[in-house]
Amino acid sequence: MVDSRPQDLFGREKETDCLHEKIGALQNGGGAVLLRGEPGIGKTALLDMAASHASENGVRVLRATGVESEALLPFAGLHQLVYPVRSFAAQLPAARRDALEGALGVRGSTVPDPFPVALSALDLLARAAAHSPVLLVIDDVHRLDRASSDVFALLARRLESEPVLLLAALRDGCPSPLTATGVPDLAVGPLSPEASAALVDVRAPDLTPSTRAVVLREAAGHPLALTELAGTAAGPGSSGPATEPWTPMSRRLQDAFTSRLHTLPPSTRLLLLVAACDDRACLPEILRAASLQGPVRVEASDLAPAIAAGLVEAGDDTVRFRHPLMSSAIRRSTPADRRRAVHAALARYVTAGSDRQTWHEAAAATHPDEQLAVRLDEAAHRARRRGDADESVKALEQAARLSGDTARGGERLLRAAAQAVDAGRHHLVTRLLEAAEPWATAPGQRARLQWIKGSPEDGMRDVSEGAAALTRLARTVLAEGRVDLAASILGSAAQRCFWSEPGPAARHGIVALADELPLSDTDPSLLAIIAHAQPIDCGRRVVSGLRRAAALTAADPGAARLIGGAALLVGEFDLAQGLSRTSAPGLRSEGRLGLAARAWGVQAWSGAQLAQLTSTVPVAEEATRLARDTGQTYLRGLGIATEARIAALQGRHERALELAGEAERIALPVAARPVLATVQLARGLAAMGAGRFHEAYGHLRRMHDPKDPAHQIALRCYALIELTDAAVHCGERDSARSVTAEMTRAASRTSSSGMHSGLAYARAALAEDTDAEGLFRAALDDASCTWPFDRARLQLAYGQWLRRQRRAMDSREQLRAAEDAFDTLGTVPWANRARQELLASGEFSRRREPAARDRLTRQESQVAQLAAEGLTNREIAERLFLSPRTVSTHLHRVFPKLGISSRAALASVFPERGAEYHEASR
Ligand SMILES: Nc1ncnc2c1ncn2[C@@H]1O[C@H](COP(=O)(O)OP(=O)(O)OP(=O)(O)O)[C@@H](O)[C@H]1O
Ligand SMILES: [Mg+2]
Repeated sequence: MVDSRPQDLFGREKETDCLHEKIGALQNGGGAVLLRGEPGIGKTALLDMAASHASENGVRVLRATGVESEALLPFAGLHQLVYPVRSFAAQLPAARRDALEGALGVRGSTVPDPFPVALSALDLLARAAAHSPVLLVIDDVHRLDRASSDVFALLARRLESEPVLLLAALRDGCPSPLTATGVPDLAVGPLSPEASAALVDVRAPDLTPSTRAVVLREAAGHPLALTELAGTAAGPGSSGPATEPWTPMSRRLQDAFTSRLHTLPPSTRLLLLVAACDDRACLPEILRAASLQGPVRVEASDLAPAIAAGLVEAGDDTVRFRHPLMSSAIRRSTPADRRRAVHAALARYVTAGSDRQTWHEAAAATHPDEQLAVRLDEAAHRARRRGDADESVKALEQAARLSGDTARGGERLLRAAAQAVDAGRHHLVTRLLEAAEPWATAPGQRARLQWIKGSPEDGMRDVSEGAAALTRLARTVLAEGRVDLAASILGSAAQRCFWSEPGPAARHGIVALADELPLSDTDPSLLAIIAHAQPIDCGRRVVSGLRRAAALTAADPGAARLIGGAALLVGEFDLAQGLSRTSAPGLRSEGRLGLAARAWGVQAWSGAQLAQLTSTVPVAEEATRLARDTGQTYLRGLGIATEARIAALQGRHERALELAGEAERIALPVAARPVLATVQLARGLAAMGAGRFHEAYGHLRRMHDPKDPAHQIALRCYALIELTDAAVHCGERDSARSVTAEMTRAASRTSSSGMHSGLAYARAALAEDTDAEGLFRAALDDASCTWPFDRARLQLAYGQWLRRQRRAMDSREQLRAAEDAFDTLGTVPWANRARQELLASGEFSRRREPAARDRLTRQESQVAQLAAEGLTNREIAERLFLSPRTVSTHLHRVFPKLGISSRAALASVFPERGAEYHEASR
């Protein structure tokens, strides 16, 4: 049998199997199935699928569809169905033929009894089926004429022994004689999340991730909603969907959700309208507000028909729509003045002075009202503090509508847009800026509009607003006395210096203006601006400010993120990692997802730099995911490049190169420097891990060529160990020495641990034999060289040098320490190199038995290691972005694999204990 599932039907495996099975078994007998579900849920799509599957398998398909205009014509539906097989009527006994023809040719007002008509139709169909089995497809049963419905109901019960299958589709809540026949129902429900996502990705492949997420959330598996919302969101000039005033809804979609309302009594419809105007309203509020709406008397029991129709669910005091689009469809299908009256009534009954009251008053208002707009501003502020970014943006948008004048309205829209950037809601940013366009007319506002437009991608797509232009804008704003806004704009200018290279003058200009801001030396935004603009030249100043600032502001996620980012730029990776780790969850819970993604990106990059692989793997994955979800393309590229780097450190070379290629494809078109730098670093590490030092050197050397797009003025300074290591092994010492000399000059201006650690390594590894030992020892004593991975690489290089000097005993001491550290960190290729050196130095017995912990999966090992550090299941869940339940499941699997029975015993299996190990080795 041919499988004819149309390519464009997503999900529905269960339903398809069921229908195919019945069609396949037709030779042994037929029957009937009634597909039921709400409008737009995909009943017709399933009928179509079954029909084409049947035809392809030699089954004759006869169809009828109920249509409104024929609902009053008796037997119109039956006529449609049997018309193609009417020639078989000639074979019917005369009485049967007369009954059938009488029905189909009925003219007068007396409608023949359906029973003899049904028997005749059965006879006719059985004769037709003698040639090939027959599938009867009857769509929109609720619109059929009554006589045909009766005939089909009678037929449905009598098909079992004929090779005839009747499939009918009926909307939920619509009466039909077919429902009383005992015909089996096939309930058609929402699509699964996977099928929904696949549908959206095929129908609208170019949606931004945040719009895609909104479409999926709003549609909740409803195929018509998915199809239509994806279509409108992808359409020209559209800035994406969302519920009113966010969602553009097509007529068909709106009708799909409101069609059943007409069957409900007026009092029920009124209650639904009130509930649709406030999804937080409780039943008493709804009843009171409804009672103000005129002559219809309402009581709680009036909700019963809506509950029975499956439109709403009611708790003790609550009413909830079954589908998220239902309430906006109801609002949209209601005239504006009626809706305003309901909001006015709700405003009287919700708590006086509450934000909800403000909302309802605003929704009821027809004229500008600056006082109300100010109250909405305050509601927006509170929503933002609660972490409800969407609500805050909506309040500001509403406030803009009610503003006393256009300048204030434009201002509010710009604020809303800037908040939407923070929240990673890029589909809203575009829409808000479009709304602001005609209002934000002052020169400062025009410039801010441009600034916000470029913000989501840090200006990568919008070359018009480079760092220098933003600095000029910040200066204008500062002259107006708006320090905070000036600092924000200057922050954006500084961010541009991270992603692209604006040249020394622009970098200098940013720092010069930053110094004019009336901010203290430890102000997080000031430190972030300077660190991004001049990470090396102003390094000393930033590093000293950082530690003090970190102590002052650790509890504020926004401030911690800024300082964490600054710490990364100046090469203080432990600080960067710790601060981002504290800030990211806080930002997430405040709804500032766009910023949370950035914090995770910083944490991941720093963790990779420190080779804390176990704890950084999930962080990098989350950074990439959240960057994608918040539509930050280049940040996502950076996350992927960081994952590539981690894979290279773990010795997963193929994976590393795959990820590096993916990140490069994102970054290359716009020359996103930090991504390309990280890509080169990952490729260099992968090549080095595979013993291809010459190739590695080529990859890494590119980071130091100012004309190469992989040159990022800060990040290149933190890859000096890699460059030197490769150079030493491939005879490129002189070239590496010139990079080191140039960097040594720059390093006099910064106290950066990352840079000095690399330089100490390079000086020793590139030295002449006469100087090398003193430099290795000095480097090991240097306060900058305390990070375990840096230190272990230093010991490896020192051990190699000692071995070449034929000082095997001394070399083994260094190599053993290095090997242990590499094993602990999980940097497999480096551990293998240390082992090979040890073998060459005459030590044979150190290859370890595979440890019990190697039997764990990657995730089990992550969970176990964090548990060994003493974290609770909830804390582990938060770190690894899992549910506490999953954590507990992993631990249950881990214990028997490790042969232990308690959490406490984990410490003996994971003695390194992540951060503590790091501290202890300092
Ligand atoms: N599984 C599916 N995969 C892809 N698209 C689907 C799927 N199911 C339905 N659709 C699409 O969703 C829309 C609505 O589906 P359909 O017309 O079958 O709904 P319905 O239940 O028949 O609605 P109504 O009660 O209004 O007739 C159509 O455009 C259809 O192509
Ligand atoms: Mg249909």
